[in-house]
Amino acid sequence: MALMTWNSKYSVGVEALDNQHKALMNALNELHAASIRGKAQEIAGPLICQLVSLAREHFSAEERLMESIRFSGLAAHRAKHQELTGKLAEFVARHEKRDTTVYTQLLYFIRDWLTKHMQTEDQEYANRLSAHGVH
Ligand SMILES: [Fe+2]
Ligand SMILES: [Fe+2]
Repeated sequence: MALMTWNSKYSVGVEALDNQHKALMNALNELHAASIRGKAQEIAGPLICQLVSLAREHFSAEERLMESIRFSGLAAHRAKHQELTGKLAEFVARHEKRDTTVYTQLLYFIRDWLTKHMQTEDQEYANRLSAHGVH
């Protein structure tokens, strides 16, 4: 069973951003599937790199769109993104020190963060974007 499954309640009404959320979920699912098979360590390197770059791309895409509509919640939203980026950097450092307990913690932390973020903070800009006709 996949760690995360797409649900329409996660949609922010912008296809490109929904696709980025789906790509993040897929990367987490891949790492999760590998960890069930006891193979997390073997594929974690490239997958964690992929997660970091997907998150970076996604956060800057969202922040650019929020900037374009002068969204008043941008600073607070950016701080949330920085919180996850900082946490990811901690996980990367632990992975590099060959701490094998990191994978499960990373998976559940990011799953919970992303699930909540897509349904709360991301929905706040989604409403503003749709009011500005951005899809
Ligand atoms: Fe997002
Ligand atoms: Fe966001």
